[in-house]
Amino acid sequence: MKQNIAILCSGGDVSGMNPALKRFVEYSLQNNLTPYFIYDGYEGLIDNNIKKANYCDVAGIINRGGTKIGSARSKRFMQAKYRTIAKQNLDIFNISLLIVLGGDGSFRGLHQFYKEHKVKFCGVPSTIDNDISGTDYCLGVDTALNMIKFSIDSIRDTASSFKRAFVIETMGNKCGYLALISHLTSGSELCLIPEITYDLNDYEQKFRQEINNGRRYFIAIVAEGITQNSTEIAEWFEKKVGIESRINILGHLQRGGNPTVKDRLMAYKFITYAIDGLLEDRNESVICYTKSGFDYKTIDTVVNSPYQLDSELIKFISS
Ligand code: F6P
Repeated sequence: MKQNIAILCSGGDVSGMNPALKRFVEYSLQNNLTPYFIYDGYEGLIDNNIKKANYCDVAGIINRGGTKIGSARSKRFMQAKYRTIAKQNLDIFNISLLIVLGGDGSFRGLHQFYKEHKVKFCGVPSTIDNDISGTDYCLGVDTALNMIKFSIDSIRDTASSFKRAFVIETMGNKCGYLALISHLTSGSELCLIPEITYDLNDYEQKFRQEINNGRRYFIAIVAEGITQNSTEIAEWFEKKVGIESRINILGHLQRGGNPTVKDRLMAYKFITYAIDGLLEDRNESVICYTKSGFDYKTIDTVVNSPYQLDSELIKFISS
């Protein structure tokens, strides 16, 4: 009998979800599966916002950020009674296979859902924070980094014209990955991330000296998860280093934008492996990408091991 498969996007959207939806529909049909979209994440699953998908639903979306089927952070899905309703809705459509694009929180909900209702699923790591244990890459990260790169390059133009320090705050929740990579690839003077303890006093003398030697401006990239806020860092520049400062909180622009080639290709591969895994009877896996390639990991391993920033990257910033 033909099997029905559904996909949903959960948590913060990423650029790359639309290319993933396109591949999902096309590869499902190619494998004789009937594809369904679940709209607005777990919320849509609870509210029975589920529709059969076809080629025409994914035409012209590969170049668009966001997600055509919507996303949500569902508080209701944390409650068992709503997960039971979710399962009943899947049963109405005879959906036995599920793909979830999301981050750590979304996977925790999925883990619980599987324990209670045994719906076969594959998780696809999708968050600009890049903070999911077991995978080196999460969908959307490359586009976010490119959005940040574009912003920093633009800010540099005005910073250099004015003799100012710019504090640029990146997203990432409690993870400093976006800030760290942006620092290494944009040549900023300072990078502060939650994973590394710092003391601003250590930079004071050096920065003052650099100004005396002719430095006109500073770029400081700070992750949103550090203990101090960007205003405090900017005040430090003014009071202790002696340079006028401005703050740029990049915010949600990091989540949007035309998906890069890397994210389109990663979306294609993640979804291909996800569907292959389900067809090979991998019931509760997350498709991960590491230095040795794609690999299925159990949801239990993924949600129960703490995420750690690559030690090589930490070494680079500390040196
Ligand atoms: O999706 C991840 C993320 O963008 C984090 O980097 C950030 O802390 C958070 O989501 C913002 O969430 P919201 O869009 O709900 O404000």
